[in-house]
Amino acid sequence: MMMMVVVVVKMVVVVADAVNAIVIIAVKEQVEEMREWFVAFAEQDHSRRDYRNYFKPVMCYLEGGWTLDQHVVEPFSSRRHSLTADSWRELQQQIRYTSFSGGKNINENFAFLPTTIMGFNETTGEPVYAQWNYRILCHPYSGDVPTKYFRQVIVVVVVVVVVVVVVVVVVVVVVVVVVVVVVVVVVVLLLLSWFY
Ligand SMILES: *[C@@H]1O[C@H](CO)[C@@H](O)[C@H](O)[C@H]1NC(C)=O
Repeated sequence: MMMMVVVVVKMVVVVADAVNAIVIIAVKEQVEEMREWFVAFAEQDHSRRDYRNYFKPVMCYLEGGWTLDQHVVEPFSSRRHSLTADSWRELQQQIRYTSFSGGKNINENFAFLPTTIMGFNETTGEPVYAQWNYRILCHPYSGDVPTKYFRQVIVVVVVVVVVVVVVVVVVVVVVVVVVVVVVVVVVVLLLLSWFY
């Protein structure tokens, strides 16, 4: 009976080791497979792995405006940050305190957002402050955006710079040549009029 139990325990251990080995191999292969997808995206080679179904482009933009609302309204959600103040005034006081004291909010939940005087209260004569606030929005883009589209901007900038430099050099050379020719002609004419 004792023998049987030992054998069973041993078998369980052997089976567990085998399962572990299979899991480790599977993870290694999965990591390699995952790398293939990132390499395909990095090299923009969708014949290697068709990354286009998973590397989806989104267009993100910033929307900003002035508000007369006194209370902080979180314009967009963030997984990491949220403003720690209830009113814009409170937020500004916190920013001023950390700026003057050289400290910081450990969670980085302060924001320096400008204010401006938008007008004056006609009854009291007090300034009416407006608060700048913004939000970041993203919109999914149907279709693929090849990463070379972004490199083209650099190419365009380089081409424009080269064209401008070439045009400037050509203009300078033409001006110098014209000035030299004019000077030579004038000198020759002066010499001719002096001799004859
Ligand atoms: C001007 O101030 C008065 C007194 O605080 C207030 O009742 C009124 O709503 C203000 N007017 C405007 C246009 O904000």
